[in-house]
Amino acid sequence: MSSSGLGWKWWLEGQKQIMKTKKVPISITLALVYLLNDSVIAEPVRIVLPAETASFRVGPGAEMAMAQCLQCHSAEYITTQPPLGRDAWMASIQKMRAKYGASISPEAESALLEYLVGNYGAPPKPLTTK
Ligand code: HEC
Repeated sequence: MSSSGLGWKWWLEGQKQIMKTKKVPISITLALVYLLNDSVIAEPVRIVLPAETASFRVGPGAEMAMAQCLQCHSAEYITTQPPLGRDAWMASIQKMRAKYGASISPEAESALLEYLVGNYGAPPKPLTTK
């Protein structure tokens, strides 16, 4: 097979040329970087997330709240608020929609409002006789 013999000689010439032009050290360096990268740096990384602890109070509307209000943040954003009145919860829902782009339909809105006021709402102020 004369053609493969020629190929070998041609390859050897090429290697000599590479050595002359000082490309070998670069290719060796690249090979070492590649090997190190593969064996040392690319260790598998395991990330264990903490369990979700906060959740909504169980009751009518809780599922709606879970579906609508946990898309962007945890339930704690809601459950750690001080008791808010109806107007404040309404404003909060509207803020989520207007400022942060939450897609809450009008039907969902009223159900959510009842749930939030019922479970995280301020108690009604006692009537005064003054
Ligand atoms: C589209 C994303 C998105 C959805 C859906 C969403 N929120 Fe938020 N919410 C945010 C962002 C963003 C913040 C501000 C986060 C921060 O400041 O760290 C926030 C903050 C809050 C806060 C803290 C006070 C404030 O105004 O910053 C409350 C309360 C709240 N959200 C209630 C709700 C309720 C109730 C729902 C469901 C009806 C809801 N969110 C759904 C994005 C969303």
